[in-house]
Amino acid sequence: MRSPLPYDMFDIAKSAEEARRFTRMESIYHRGQDLVWNGKVVLDELCKKHGGPRLRPEHQQAAARVLGSVMWGELAAWKIAAQLADVLEPIEARMAATSQAHDEARHFYVLHDYLIRATGDFPRTMNKAAERLVKAALFADTVPKKIMGMQLQLEATALTIFHALRDADVCPVLSELMVYYEKDEARHVGLGVQLVPTLMKSMSIAERIEFSAYSFRVGFLSIGSLKGAEDDLRTLGIDPRKVAILGKSKQMLVFEELWKHVPNARSAIGEKVGFAMDAIAEALWPDQNEDPALTARAKRVLRTLREGYETTATILEPGGEERTPDRARRRPADSTLN
Ligand SMILES: [Fe+2]
Ligand SMILES: [Fe+2]
Repeated sequence: MRSPLPYDMFDIAKSAEEARRFTRMESIYHRGQDLVWNGKVVLDELCKKHGGPRLRPEHQQAAARVLGSVMWGELAAWKIAAQLADVLEPIEARMAATSQAHDEARHFYVLHDYLIRATGDFPRTMNKAAERLVKAALFADTVPKKIMGMQLQLEATALTIFHALRDADVCPVLSELMVYYEKDEARHVGLGVQLVPTLMKSMSIAERIEFSAYSFRVGFLSIGSLKGAEDDLRTLGIDPRKVAILGKSKQMLVFEELWKHVPNARSAIGEKVGFAMDAIAEALWPDQNEDPALTARAKRVLRTLREGYETTATILEPGGEERTPDRARRRPADSTLN
């Protein structure tokens, strides 16, 4: 009969490089504890500061649909983080997932409370394309796939949407809230980046092929989820093509990080996923006039994330800059007002 607890969890052999990554995973837990914020208090304070949510009437329905999808996505993230906190074997990864579950609970109830205050209600469902992406992560049949679907695709896409919502300045309360969300989500992506290389090392060739196929699938689903919300995003003044390009930059960086640490696996699969996503984004949102500001922005995001992954202490700031957590903790709201 199987032991009820993993008594051998401290016996996992690690290389020096893995030990470093495991320490980073552990720091996700401690960092999460240091930077924890009270959702009720923050929302109250922001509403007081701005005289309540200020969604314009013509934005109400579109904002409710976009934020409704994000809100239900937060519940999916909460469920997945709780699943991972139960099954992940290295204690550092289990700690990071536990911390993430705590963050996602807060993300879910704060968005719900914001929607009630801003629109008087909240959507009882999410857009179908986004639901397909959520399902792919929620019902993934292996831990690496679940992390690829959740931390490395869904959360990278969510981060990009948070950025875009803030840039569009749909509502000052929402813009300032998004800064808190972005800081938390950047840590969650960090869990995937640090853990997946170790999980990939023990995969057979067949498992790697299956894992790569899954990566393609969720990459396409994440583009599809943006396409599904296209009309609403445009109503809010957000260009879905820009979101797709910035999202892809983040995902490409993730792939680059992953394959870098897996021996004999630098098969450029990440690049292929990126090219395929590029082609799809181009087909969906053709744009002959490349926007230089957008390209520069994508590069900046990429650079900031690269630095961010090197130390989980790094916090993302609007415009792709970074700052120290202590400053972020003291004055998180100020950073939205640039
Ligand atoms: Fe979240
Ligand atoms: Fe998250």
